[in-house]
Amino acid sequence: MCGIIGVLGEDDVVTSILDGLKRLEYRGYDSAGIATVESATIHERRAPGKLSELSNLIATQALSGRIGIGHTRWATHGAPTQDNAHPHVTEKLALVHNGIIENFAELRSMLSERGVSFRSQTDSEVIARLIDYYLTQERKAPYDAVRQTLSQLHGAFAIAVVFADDDDLMIAARQGSPLAIGVSTSETEGNAAYVGSDAYALAPFTNRIAYLEDGDLVSMRRSKIDIFDAAGALVDRSFSVSSVTNNVVGKDGHRHFMAKEIHEQPDVIAHTLSNYIDVETNSAILGKNSIDFKSLDKLLISACGTAFYAGLTAKYWFESWAKLPVEIDIASELRYRDVPYTKNGAAIFISQSGETADTLAALRNAKSNGQKICSVVNVPESSIARESDVVFPMAAGPEIGVASTKAFTCQLATLACIAVAAGRARGVLTKADEEDLIKSLLATPRLISEAIAVAPEIEKIAKSIAKARDIIYVGRGLSFPIAMEGALKLKEISYIHAEGYAAGELKHGPIALIDKETPVIVIAPPDKHFDKTVSNMHEVISREGRALFISSETAIDKVKDDLWASIPVPDIHPQLSPIVYAAPVQLLAYFTATTKGTDVDQPRNLAKSVTVE
Ligand code: G6P
Repeated sequence: MCGIIGVLGEDDVVTSILDGLKRLEYRGYDSAGIATVESATIHERRAPGKLSELSNLIATQALSGRIGIGHTRWATHGAPTQDNAHPHVTEKLALVHNGIIENFAELRSMLSERGVSFRSQTDSEVIARLIDYYLTQERKAPYDAVRQTLSQLHGAFAIAVVFADDDDLMIAARQGSPLAIGVSTSETEGNAAYVGSDAYALAPFTNRIAYLEDGDLVSMRRSKIDIFDAAGALVDRSFSVSSVTNNVVGKDGHRHFMAKEIHEQPDVIAHTLSNYIDVETNSAILGKNSIDFKSLDKLLISACGTAFYAGLTAKYWFESWAKLPVEIDIASELRYRDVPYTKNGAAIFISQSGETADTLAALRNAKSNGQKICSVVNVPESSIARESDVVFPMAAGPEIGVASTKAFTCQLATLACIAVAAGRARGVLTKADEEDLIKSLLATPRLISEAIAVAPEIEKIAKSIAKARDIIYVGRGLSFPIAMEGALKLKEISYIHAEGYAAGELKHGPIALIDKETPVIVIAPPDKHFDKTVSNMHEVISREGRALFISSETAIDKVKDDLWASIPVPDIHPQLSPIVYAAPVQLLAYFTATTKGTDVDQPRNLAKSVTVE
């Protein structure tokens, strides 16, 4: 999703802006641009496609300046063309925007009637033109022109603006979309101020970072930063030392970030578990992250995309281990529902980025209805973390591949520990049950590494899968969310149509799709559902369907004569199978995509951090 970077420096800032944009690439984008102010003029370079296109353009048409803004755009209104790329520039200013302006059509026609013309189809240009209108027609000062413009916008936005007449001023603001500011006062670099969509973008320059709150507007000069709240009052947003490191995240010898992240899972799951497990006593420890599970009457879980499937898996755990009623919904639906909240309810929001707009809105809805707000996040300084009563950080490390992999299994590991703690607190799990689950959880890093070790076999199978037009994934119980996650992963990066179904639901419709050409991927750990899932698989095979069976070696042996293909997974505690069975479905999607030659790490149309509705 769109990324913003702005730099006010003592020397030329173009290289710094390009560095910042590079670090925002992981969010997903389809065009990019930079604008600077020099000699009282705005200079811009914009290019559709990858950042390399923009760098090439700047190499042939030099750009410089001591103040500038940059943007990676993920198209919402208008195709990813050069005209629609940010910054949007007028004679007086340049602006970058992340978010969606819902009333842009109204504002655009109001400005058109007053003789203002537009050069893009974007909602964002309306903001630039409106500020320009107040600067030129009403002769307002920059701060007042921006303030007046913002008061007319409906929707979510984070913006940064620079002005032709003042190369020591950048104004930035946020309402709904994330924005951080940074300062550096090093002796070598002198005074500099930065604005960025997240701490990753700012990490090469400074670790002294403050997060703007909704409604904030910041007026930045090299030697002075003033932050105003929605009411216009000067406020103090504390600067703290960000934990995000400046280390450029590399691929460690892998072809893609996604491959690296799949292979990192044994380590990061172990790291995550170490935060929630006391290995001396084999118990789950939530530390200061206390929730009074005993008095809870309902748990609400919500998230988007892959994080939602982690939540759906956790629903089975909370119900089984803690006998806790769980309601779960995707955040884009939950945020607009009239949820009957209970008196002693808590809600868990799951998000890798901690910035997903729908998840944040669902959180706020639950919060305003008196629910205790908990979150499982990978970015501890994110908006979702900051607005939660209780934060359960996972230790996945930066996830760069747009399709989530290691964050998913770390979400599962974290949620499993929370559910075990809930089970103990509610008197459902005995100490022996807890020990059994915790010991099995501690084995998951080893088991997932064994599951990853069969990658070469999965790669061979993927060669055939890559030719399919449609693929069906099925699973029962705890394997149902994995079936859906497998299908999501495959469609995200290989662009093959795939659906995940509960195995028992096949006969109610999807079975009509079965023919020789449609592979059916059966997630069937040897658990209490095994025999039923195998029966469903036979219904597929008897209709000429090709079954790819994912199960333990012993189980595969029992049915191998009927299979088109199989992927062995090590034996694991049946209730923890999702953590390990995630690996084969991730690898299958990965190798199918590499066979097809798609852009694995930045698939078309997708964004890593979805900060619009
Ligand atoms: C996007 C990403 C998915 C991710 C989802 C939720 O769609 O492409 O991989 O699962 O957002 O993101 P979050 O950061 O909230 O986990």
